[in-house]
Amino acid sequence: DWNMPDYVAESISRIQAKVGSDKVILGLSGGVDSSVAAVLIHRAIGDQLTCVFVDNGLLRLHEAEQVKAVFAQNLNMKVIHVDASRQFLEQLQGVTDPEQKRRIIGREFVEVFQKESANIADARWLAQGTIYPDVIESAGSQTKKAHTIKSHHNVGGLPDTLHLKLLEPLRELFKDEVRELGLVLGLPHDMVFRHPFPGPGLGVRILGEVRQEYADLLRQADAIFIEELKASGWYERTSQAFAVFLPVKSVGVMGDGRSYEYVVALRAVQTQDFMTAHWAELPYSLLAKVSNRIINEVRGINRVVYDVSGKPPATIEWE
Ligand code: XMP
Repeated sequence: DWNMPDYVAESISRIQAKVGSDKVILGLSGGVDSSVAAVLIHRAIGDQLTCVFVDNGLLRLHEAEQVKAVFAQNLNMKVIHVDASRQFLEQLQGVTDPEQKRRIIGREFVEVFQKESANIADARWLAQGTIYPDVIESAGSQTKKAHTIKSHHNVGGLPDTLHLKLLEPLRELFKDEVRELGLVLGLPHDMVFRHPFPGPGLGVRILGEVRQEYADLLRQADAIFIEELKASGWYERTSQAFAVFLPVKSVGVMGDGRSYEYVVALRAVQTQDFMTAHWAELPYSLLAKVSNRIINEVRGINRVVYDVSGKPPATIEWE
């Protein structure tokens, strides 16, 4: 239980003492943890920090622009934005197995990040937004590897290959403390209270093969869902919500003719720890509005369904 302003001051001194005049790089995802870590470290060492933001082509609508606006424009931080979408999508071509997709996305990320960081001469530190629950989880996973259901790729892999020292200023904090810290540091409310987004991004929300066309349709549908959740006050009442692209076509009517288009599933859950979760009992009126908007506004989608599966036995993501 920290006094946050004191914690900020202490933490800044600690970072300064540790890093000295060295250069630091950080993989910025736009998620809460890496964002808060980035701003905290920037407070401590300013332009000695370079953030690398990798667009893997599997981000949500306008996500790259938003990250640039917040960090580069508003906060005046050094952010290298790498558009690697084509590379990721090429590597994913023809791949349908969820775990293989995760491996490829993880591998490509490491490759892109490594290449970028090699351009940052004399970087000595790799900063990460590791928080206390990650520390516990990865300590556990060394003995419980056999029980891993899905491989998570947003942590790990980098330090070993880059030969950099690790800087993890959030290692002692729980999620709610990281959020409080983010607010104290002046990050926008929306960014601090954002639902979690998996490292492989839309890659695991497009069932089976990932294609550019599918990603574009999903981005639009997902943005409508999130916009309506926020407008109705339901975003804060759910722990995670998103759209899933189903690469199957079903028949519909459009004007005088029939349509034969793709399906989108909506997923919204309430959970404390993401180990178990209830599907959110969203109002029918909200579901109706979202469904109408998606079908009317996203050409290529003619059917929307709502996922009413709890975890367990279903997982939160569909892959
Ligand atoms: P599941 O689908 O296992 O998800 O019920 C539990 C939580 O973990 C997130 N998740 C991931 N996060 N890389 C990540 O960084 C992944 O590969 C991954 N798979 C699932 C999911 O979004 C949910 O919050």
